[in-house]
Amino acid sequence: MLETDKKLQLGDAIRLAADAFEAAQLYYGHGTDNAIDEASWLLLHALGLSPVNEPDYEMLLNAEQIIRCNEILAKRIERRQPAAYITGEAWFAGLRFKSDNRALVPRSPLAELIMEDFFGLLSGKEAPRILDLCTGGGCIAIACAYAREGAIVTASDISEQALALAAENVQLHKVQSQVKLVHSGLFEQLNGRFDLILSNPPYVDQSDINAMAKEFHHEPQLGLVAGEDGLDLVRNMLAQAPDYLSDNGMLVVEVGNSATALEAAFPHLPFLWLEFSHGGSGVFVLTRQELLTPR
Ligand SMILES: C[S@@+](CC[C@H](N)C(=O)[O-])C[C@H]1O[C@@H](n2cnc3c(N)ncnc32)[C@H](O)[C@@H]1O
Repeated sequence: MLETDKKLQLGDAIRLAADAFEAAQLYYGHGTDNAIDEASWLLLHALGLSPVNEPDYEMLLNAEQIIRCNEILAKRIERRQPAAYITGEAWFAGLRFKSDNRALVPRSPLAELIMEDFFGLLSGKEAPRILDLCTGGGCIAIACAYAREGAIVTASDISEQALALAAENVQLHKVQSQVKLVHSGLFEQLNGRFDLILSNPPYVDQSDINAMAKEFHHEPQLGLVAGEDGLDLVRNMLAQAPDYLSDNGMLVVEVGNSATALEAAFPHLPFLWLEFSHGGSGVFVLTRQELLTPR
């Protein structure tokens, strides 16, 4: 890896680390999409530098700093840990979140929907009631609270561990007055009606899970796997959501690659598939009325 007895500038260290990532055929997609960004993120973390500010790429690293960098690089290359779990942080909708293996690394395209004023789905609603079903570490719920000051957000998950991380993120962002966390298997412990239900549930099918890169196996499998066709949770959501949506309420769910299986299983439902400028697909919108379409 990086040699301690040579003069090494930060910029060169990043390039060498990126080469090593490429040679090891790492998987990107838990926060970055290329070797250079991934290497920068990890080395800046190793050096205690902010990933937000432009670093001095000509800065010379001393032997002790190079050793610290090598320790971090080994975690990424040998153990295939996602960078977010190594650094303990991840970004979603422009916000920093604590991230560890209690919940998936945030990466949903729903960030763009939230940042783009919900693509107009909440227009005219000053204090919308929003439910983030399957909240994991709470990133979607918290981003919603930032996006709409008046929003009243409920965030639920079946995993107590994920909710513990979500609670830390709620505290970090000081949104306790807006975001309520509920321990619940889907809708089981939820009450009331919502103007918008957002969800990035588990939706990976059995064949995909077997083929997934090692990085995914560090994440809680409860957050990924959803039966033979990836639709176990979504089926229940489609059936129960009308009872939890206001009259004009909408359900927005990410199903990724399981979109084809979903359309085949529910041919009578008029799924509207959202388009994203910053990547991602397989996110549908259905209104409460559409969900009530008879088969
Ligand atoms: C794909 S992760 C999404 C986490 C977060 N929303 C995000 O976008 O990063 C799915 C989450 O669903 C939760 N989950 C799995 N089965 C569930 C169930 N039956 N009811 C509620 N939550 C469930 C998992 O614990 C996990 O946190």
